[in-house]
Amino acid sequence: KMSLDEMKDHQLVGKYIQPETREVDGVLMTKIISDNWDKIWNFQAKPDDLLIASYAKSGTTWTQEIVDMIQNDGDVQKCQRANTFDRHPFIEWTFPPPLNSGLDLASKMPSPRTLKTHLPAQLLPPSFWKENSKIIYVARNPKDCLVSYYHFSRMTKMMPDPGTWEEYIESFKTGKVLWGSWYNHVKGWWDAKDKHHILYLFYEDMKEDPKREIQKILKFLEKEMPEEVLNKILYHISFDVMKQNPMANYTTLPTILMDQPISPFMRKGMPGDWKNYFTVAQNEEFDKDYQKKMAGSTLTFRTEI
Ligand code: A3P
Repeated sequence: KMSLDEMKDHQLVGKYIQPETREVDGVLMTKIISDNWDKIWNFQAKPDDLLIASYAKSGTTWTQEIVDMIQNDGDVQKCQRANTFDRHPFIEWTFPPPLNSGLDLASKMPSPRTLKTHLPAQLLPPSFWKENSKIIYVARNPKDCLVSYYHFSRMTKMMPDPGTWEEYIESFKTGKVLWGSWYNHVKGWWDAKDKHHILYLFYEDMKEDPKREIQKILKFLEKEMPEEVLNKILYHISFDVMKQNPMANYTTLPTILMDQPISPFMRKGMPGDWKNYFTVAQNEEFDKDYQKKMAGSTLTFRTEI
C-alpha cells in the first residue's frame, strides 16, 4: 500500500477527489457512493461490531478516539497504530479502485470491529439491525454543526464546495448537503434508539462533562476502568491533545485532499461558536425553520453550555 507521502505526488490522488453528488432515496451522497449503493446496502454487519454513527461534524472523531482508548485500556501507543480513518472503517465512503474503500477495509478487519458511518437511520444497511450490533450515535446542535460543516467543506477537496456562507445556510436547512437533512438524521436515530441497542450522546454533554459521558460509554460497552486509566483517557481525548495528535487530526492527508491551512480539522471544538457567524436575522430565521422541522419531536439541543 502506498504511503500517504508517496501518494502526494502520485496520479492516484485525483481518484480521492469526488465532488460529484447524487441522491440515494432522496438523500444527497457522493456520486460514487450512489453508484456503489447495492454493495453498501448489502454490507454484512456482525453481532460483535460496534458502530459509531453521526451526522457529519458532530464529534465523530472525538467519539472514535474515546472508544479506541477504552478498547485499548488507555494505551496511547496502541491508539497511535494508525490514522483514525484506518482504525475504524467508514463503511459507505467509497473510492474508485484500486483505492481502499470503507467496505474493503471493513471486510479485511478482524473482529471485533469498530466501524463508522454518517448514514441516516433509514439508509443503514439492514444487517446492523438484524445482528443487533451495538451503536453509539453522537449528535451536535445544528448551528455549531452547520458552522463546522461549512468550514470543513471549504478545506476538504473530497466533498462539494459549500459556496458562500449565505448559500451554505440554505443548503444545510434544505438538506442539500452530503448525508442530507440534519433534522431528519438526528430525529431518525432518536426514534431508532428505543427499538435498538443504541447509546445516543450529545456533543455538548461531552464537552460539559467528558468523564460522565465516558462512563456512559463504559457502561454501554460493559467495561470497567480504574480511575487512573479514566483520567489518562480524559487527558488524551481533550481538544488540545487531540489537535496535536497526527493519528487523530487528519494532518497525514496531503493538502490537495484536505487543505488544513484554510481551516484545520481540529478547528475550535467549542459549543456556541455559531454566534460568531450567524447574523441576528439569520439566527431568527434559522430558529423559526428549526421549530417547524423539529415539531413533535422530544429531542432537544443546547446551543451553548
Ligand atoms: P469544530 O469545527 O467546531 O471545531 P467530526 O469528527 O464529526 O467531523 O466533528 C469534527 C468537529 O469535532 C470539529 O468541530 C472538531 O474540532 C470537533 N472535535 C474533534 N475532537 C474534539 C475534542 N477532543 N473536543 C472537542 N471537539 C472536538
